[in-house]
Amino acid sequence: MRFTLDGRMVDRPCLWPVEGGIEHIDQRKLPGSTIIERSKTLKEQLEAIRTLSVRGAPALGVFAGLSFAFGLERGSDPNDLKLAILSARPTAVDPRNAVCEVEDAFLISGPKGAMSKALEIMERTISQCRQIGEHGARLVPDGGRVMTHCNAGALATVDWGTALAPIRMKARQGGDPFVWVSETRPLLQGSRLTAWELAQERIRHSLIVDSSSGHLMSQGLVDLVIVGADRVARNGDVVNKIGTYDKAVLARENNVPFYVALPLSTLDADTATGADIVLEERPAEEITDMNGMATAPEISPAFNPAFDMTPHRYITGYVTPRGVLDREGLLELFH
Ligand code: MRU
Repeated sequence: MRFTLDGRMVDRPCLWPVEGGIEHIDQRKLPGSTIIERSKTLKEQLEAIRTLSVRGAPALGVFAGLSFAFGLERGSDPNDLKLAILSARPTAVDPRNAVCEVEDAFLISGPKGAMSKALEIMERTISQCRQIGEHGARLVPDGGRVMTHCNAGALATVDWGTALAPIRMKARQGGDPFVWVSETRPLLQGSRLTAWELAQERIRHSLIVDSSSGHLMSQGLVDLVIVGADRVARNGDVVNKIGTYDKAVLARENNVPFYVALPLSTLDADTATGADIVLEERPAEEITDMNGMATAPEISPAFNPAFDMTPHRYITGYVTPRGVLDREGLLELFH
């Protein structure tokens, strides 16, 4: 990902390991400030996950794998570590997949093996996202108008992104894509993070409020929708940021193709259907307050599910490192 840091343009991932810990771009501070945070203790790493300083399913997977490996190096109990890391946020499956892989490596070759596996997962995530970009760029016509939701960019995946990878790749190929960025209430991952990534790379885009998606589609202003995923069940159902389901249904109604982009770490072979996935519920204050200012009467309660489930029947195709697949192709990846 290319961005300006301390007045210089750099090409860097959103997180990386350093001596004894992890550095990451603090996503809570964007787009105002680009601050690099360092977390060395498990407590700091869990705090980074819970507060969405690090977020997005594949980035959470890499961060979880590294946190687990650093904890094992410090001699912490593997079961305690695993429980703490995996309960920090429940919906994305990438952290579970990463921690299980690192644990297997630890059982065979100790803390050193665990750390090499965590680093391998990081490299693999970056290269799979690049492959998603290569396959997905072919879906985007020259000058094509893509709608996306939340942030499934480099910030959410370490580098390249999932939904943003085809757009980034198309832009680097000179295809001049345009992106409708859905602001993504209540935490504004679209306007704060996706727009920031696109602005940094000078990719054409416009912010929209979440509720304008149907209108834009009905006016013929959207060529395709691409979103990311937090977890894909064995039948192809997808859980992603709240509001994804609305876009999928509206896309079907308006004959707009609806794609989900994902690395293989987002597949959950243990879960039969999307209905079985636990959807994280976040504090009501994320809806009733903005930067300490009340946006609702003090006595009004609020319900804040952070994710929703899109049934596979609404999904035109899955953009994966193995290519753009229909449902049948996706289901083969589980074997
Ligand atoms: O609550 P968040 O910001 O972690 O939610 C993130 C999303 O819903 C992303 O779309 C998803 O993790 C895919 S990221 C490639």
